[in-house]
Amino acid sequence: MCGIIGVIGERNATPILLEGLKRLEYRGYDSAGVAVNHKGEIHCNRAEGKLINLENRLKERPLIGFSGIGHTRWATHGAPIEINAHPHRSAKVAVVHNGIIENYSELRQRLMADGVVFLSDTDTEVIPHLIERELALGREPELAIRLAVGYLEGAFALGILIQGVEDKLFAVRRGSPLILGLGEGENFIASDATPLVPYTRSMLYLDDDDVAILSRDGVRVTDLEGNPVERVIKQSKVSSDLSEKGSYRHFMQKEIFEQPFVLGETLKALLKPMDNRVDLPDLTSAIDLSQVTAVNIIACGTSWHAGMVGRYWIESLSAIPVGVDIASEYRYREPPIIPGTVTVVISQSGETADTLAALRYAKSQGQKVIAIVNVPESTISREADAVLYTRAGPEIGVASTKAFTTQLMVLAALAICIGRQRQHISLEQEQGYVQQLLQVPDLMERVLDNDAEIFEISRKLMHANGFLFLGRGSCFPIALEGALKLKEISYIHAEGYAAGEMKHGPIALIDEDLPVVVVAPRDPLFEKVVSNLEEARARGGRLVVITTDQASEGMVCQADDVISMVACGDLIAPILYVAPLQLLAYHIAVLKGTDVDQPRNLAKSVTVE
Ligand code: G6P
Repeated sequence: MCGIIGVIGERNATPILLEGLKRLEYRGYDSAGVAVNHKGEIHCNRAEGKLINLENRLKERPLIGFSGIGHTRWATHGAPIEINAHPHRSAKVAVVHNGIIENYSELRQRLMADGVVFLSDTDTEVIPHLIERELALGREPELAIRLAVGYLEGAFALGILIQGVEDKLFAVRRGSPLILGLGEGENFIASDATPLVPYTRSMLYLDDDDVAILSRDGVRVTDLEGNPVERVIKQSKVSSDLSEKGSYRHFMQKEIFEQPFVLGETLKALLKPMDNRVDLPDLTSAIDLSQVTAVNIIACGTSWHAGMVGRYWIESLSAIPVGVDIASEYRYREPPIIPGTVTVVISQSGETADTLAALRYAKSQGQKVIAIVNVPESTISREADAVLYTRAGPEIGVASTKAFTTQLMVLAALAICIGRQRQHISLEQEQGYVQQLLQVPDLMERVLDNDAEIFEISRKLMHANGFLFLGRGSCFPIALEGALKLKEISYIHAEGYAAGEMKHGPIALIDEDLPVVVVAPRDPLFEKVVSNLEEARARGGRLVVITTDQASEGMVCQADDVISMVACGDLIAPILYVAPLQLLAYHIAVLKGTDVDQPRNLAKSVTVE
């Protein structure tokens, strides 16, 4: 799972490749590398770790060439060390790869039996050798590539250079995303449009088993038999601005504090102006929500937590059953498809491989699919029947924050919309809920004003070896999200639990060393949460309670620390109550000195299953 880029044109490829890799680093940052095809030789430079290491190497040893490929890696096969960095080579071929070659082990054995010496532990390295073997048999480069690809099983997007063929850059796609950018006297390949928009807006999206042959003056696309295929060229509207941190220390911090604004922007696009009503014309014209009898929500990671909150909302506002699935489980479970069910997939990036596969499965079973996506023109947004966009803007920090709360905003609007279409809620109720949503940006601003207080609590808790997060009802997924945020960026083990379930296991963990963070809005389940809190207190647990001033009065004596919240309606509590948990994780991570924006082993977009 990685980012790939390639260019062929009239200017030096290396700066274009490096700039592109910066924009693709969200897909992985275990190592990076580039190769250029110049004067009958392929020259490669690779470095372990973040892109900056490669940049420094290239300063010492610049690479010049007019066609080239680049790669930023998230390790799947083989440790994140230099020998496993892409591009991978044979004598005459260099390849960058995003995806997984599932039968690489068998191919590797066969190639080794033929005398091939492998230099890396990757699945990718079989590809240049397979192409090389075909070239050695006298095949033309294009045919050699097509024949070699015929041996591969799995998912791949490939950029390929062939020594001595400087006027061509080759690309192949199956499963993993790959697009072509069509410029003036130069053409490009990339995993997504973001690295290409500084040079061109004309994008050609490859289909599975397309082979592309790029030259300076044009591109040609064929199928695996070599027959020409036509693909539509689209004009990208993706912003070419590269996000900056501004005065913030980290992107994650910036993104947490952007929430009041982006929540407002997201909400604006979901409402009928001046009317306090949800208005989703693109969705309601594509799917008749009044006929929907069940909803199935599918996502991964933080987006899955958003889906879990969505379940509470949709079930209570529209009285239809909602299932929530982890995409990697759903896609292989062969779930029976019940007529009348609509599938909702949620993805910040719109590229997560498992979520995409789940979308395709649901569509193949005749279900309509609604996508809640942040990145415009992403694969999931292109393949869904209807798209509801979160307007979080680019999210750079690997730990998702503003994308999550804007997903919640969209899900709340969707729940209201289904409830109304199914006539389960009245116009007055709808307007009341919308009133709550309209308060979110201001209330979020006030929640974030507690930053200094949360920092002080973080200082007290930063040495803990483990945390328990508890919540109930629609704030149970918020407890899960709080635990996930802490794990992702501070590397402290944390568990999120439904507060009522704590006594069935995790209570055994509680002692004075285990902080228990309790998400306790003043909602109908508040008294129940207080009882759970007392159970934890009775075992000596160190309690941090997130609740309103008014509610905290009765529990100050029980809590070691209280993070005070603004009073809010029940519907919007999960959106607001996650913010202190984001800040808690952020401050603890900063205090521990971890790499907050690019935590170890993670990637922003997971494009392998
Ligand atoms: C990765 C990211 C998470 C994200 C998850 C799902 O694990 O690090 O922040 O929640 O993927 O990504 P998606 O883009 O589909 O929301």
